[in-house]
Amino acid sequence: MIRTHIAGLRAQAGSTVTIAGWVQALRLQRAMQFVIVRDHTGTVQVTHRRDGGPLESLLDSLTAESAVRITGVVKDNPVVSLGGLELIPESVVIENLTETPLPIDDHTGPEGRLDWRFLDVRRRPAARLVFEVQTTVEQAMREFAYASGCTELHTPKLMGTASESGAEVFTVGYFGRQAYLAQSPQFYKQMAIAGGVDRVFEIGPVFRAEPSFTSRHATEFTGVDVELAWISSVEDVMTFEERMLAHVLAAVAAAHSAEIEELFKVSVRVPAVPFPRLTMAEALSISGAAAGQDDLDPAGERAVSARVLAETGHEFAFVTEFPASARPFYHLRPAGQPHLTASFDLLWKGLEITTGAQREHRYDVLLAQLAEKGLAPEPMRSYLDCFRYGCPPHGGFGLGLGRLLMVLLGLDSIRDATFLFRGPNRLVP
Ligand code: 4AD
Ligand code: MG
Repeated sequence: MIRTHIAGLRAQAGSTVTIAGWVQALRLQRAMQFVIVRDHTGTVQVTHRRDGGPLESLLDSLTAESAVRITGVVKDNPVVSLGGLELIPESVVIENLTETPLPIDDHTGPEGRLDWRFLDVRRRPAARLVFEVQTTVEQAMREFAYASGCTELHTPKLMGTASESGAEVFTVGYFGRQAYLAQSPQFYKQMAIAGGVDRVFEIGPVFRAEPSFTSRHATEFTGVDVELAWISSVEDVMTFEERMLAHVLAAVAAAHSAEIEELFKVSVRVPAVPFPRLTMAEALSISGAAAGQDDLDPAGERAVSARVLAETGHEFAFVTEFPASARPFYHLRPAGQPHLTASFDLLWKGLEITTGAQREHRYDVLLAQLAEKGLAPEPMRSYLDCFRYGCPPHGGFGLGLGRLLMVLLGLDSIRDATFLFRGPNRLVP
């Protein structure tokens, strides 16, 4: 039997079709039985006049959220508030009868919704739209990356030594010894650069053992990583990213702007390039940071974005020239400015969505910077070896997909931008 999507019923008026979906609501009256059926494309009213037959008792036995397949005639009926259309059923198959009562309802709080995420996602079109938008975002990122000469890689998430630093890394048992979950594809994408891959692109899981309970932190999230060889400066990396994001937002606007406006009350703005740039020193003074502060706190990030928006009308801002004290050992320091790094964060509406940098590709300088940070070279031997045999200048960035969606859709929390959120207190479902 061919299934007709509910959004396509209008074109089928007068014919017999089969729809498949869930019972959104039931109104079982004395003379009439009304069933509102929902699929992923919309809702329709199924109207049945009681006649004492088997269909009547089947409809009486339905419960909300049961999975049903209904065959019937599509009828134009201007009186029906739901699209002026109804389905007069001829046969009903209950594929899966839902237990009562449902464990969540419209008043369930955020944690309860996460406990029953599949019902939450099924019942709220806005929750599902997040993943449709995410699909468009990833597709547009890939389109841009491929057209820009990137090769897509999948680097390992199990590692023998902790990446970047020792902190924030999950340990897992590994045949009697310890392994670590990758907190960034950082070292491996640089290894690919050393391997002669000209431009690296990866979308994959990132693990952070941070006990953070904020609306923007997850312990597992999806990272979008780019690494570019033979760059002239970190400016090449920022240019790549702003053009990629402009392409992504144009694609989202083209595909979803009406639905996003309707369900999230947010209008998608395609940003002009270049994005505004300001140095960390300027950002710190805007944020009213205390003396000696070398990084922005969340309030500082919001203050910087607000100032940039007021002065330029731009929602994005690159903060550049981070102090070396606030950055990892592998960030390149500009010639003659050992206290600075050729790095950036990208803020969008007051939230960091990206960190990027030119990397130090000179072995001796890298070793010196490692020592300066008090880190031992031996555990990083396979990474450091990449810089002994002809590594080109390179740089790249890591972008948090959940954070991007959160800002794009105006979501309160990264929990709503993730299908199944992972945090310090959440490992199920
Ligand atoms: O800023 P982060 O830690 O930078 C890196 O991982 C570098 N290796 C990237 C690089 O190429 N230099 O992480 C990159 C991005 C952040 O800007 C943020 O968007 C996201 O990943 N992110 C998180 N998202 C959700 N939950 C968390 N706990 C996150 N930590 C970082
Ligand atoms: Mg960062």
